[in-house]
Amino acid sequence: MLKECNHVAIIMDGNGRWAKAQGKPRTAGHLVGADNVRTIAIAASEMGIKYLTLYAFSTENWKRSQDEVSYIMKLPAIFFKKYMQEFLDRGYRMNIIGELDMLPKATQKVLNDAMEESKNNTGLNLNICMNYGSQREILLAARQYAKDVRDGKADLDLDEEGFEKYLMTKDFPPVDLLIRTSGEERISNYLLWQIAYAELEFVQESWPEFTPEVFHRCLEEYTKRDRRFGGVTNE
Ligand code: IPE
Ligand code: IPE
Ligand code: MG
Repeated sequence: MLKECNHVAIIMDGNGRWAKAQGKPRTAGHLVGADNVRTIAIAASEMGIKYLTLYAFSTENWKRSQDEVSYIMKLPAIFFKKYMQEFLDRGYRMNIIGELDMLPKATQKVLNDAMEESKNNTGLNLNICMNYGSQREILLAARQYAKDVRDGKADLDLDEEGFEKYLMTKDFPPVDLLIRTSGEERISNYLLWQIAYAELEFVQESWPEFTPEVFHRCLEEYTKRDRRFGGVTNE
């Protein structure tokens, strides 16, 4: 039996290296990686996961070549054209997290349409982080809170729960399990607040190689973990 795991976040890393190892351009890795989002979303839903939050493009990824960035910006259109109907049939709700207004207009439209079309669904929450960076998220939250205090809309005695309402993830529960693919062991500015008590797993497989079997193995490992949240286990 797998332990219940409500919210899984994944840093989908290693597309570029995977493609290069096959003598292909980095963009080929991103295309296969996008297809794998569908495979892993289905696997998540079948394993009873309610929230799957995927890191697709960070606030730091603008540093990449213009060719690579513009290809990634076109991927949502390719992806949702192929799979949106299936996601709707499966009852998935799409949420896009990040500063969307900095993306090309056409990309914004595709992402907003995906959210709008699926907003009444109650199945898997498929959260895709686009132009997301956690430090920026916390900074924007702090700015908004300061404005609300100034305007008399918030008190000074804000607590953790109150602050979470200012985050881009306000509608979602805390992360239970964070997985990063491709052997890197760092967080890269992802969900810093939300992973406060998440279990962390770093797997060697690159994102295109991250199969439902590897995912299942991660959940088995999670099942073995003793989540104490600062307390002590009853013996
Ligand atoms: C993850 O794969 C996808 C994005 C960050 C957009 P990478 O593109 O980082 O692949 P590597 O890490 O260079 O192999
Ligand atoms: C993190 O991967 C961002 C995404 C997966 C979207 P990166 O490949 O950008 O991270 P670093 O630069 O290796 O830390
Ligand atoms: Mg990378």
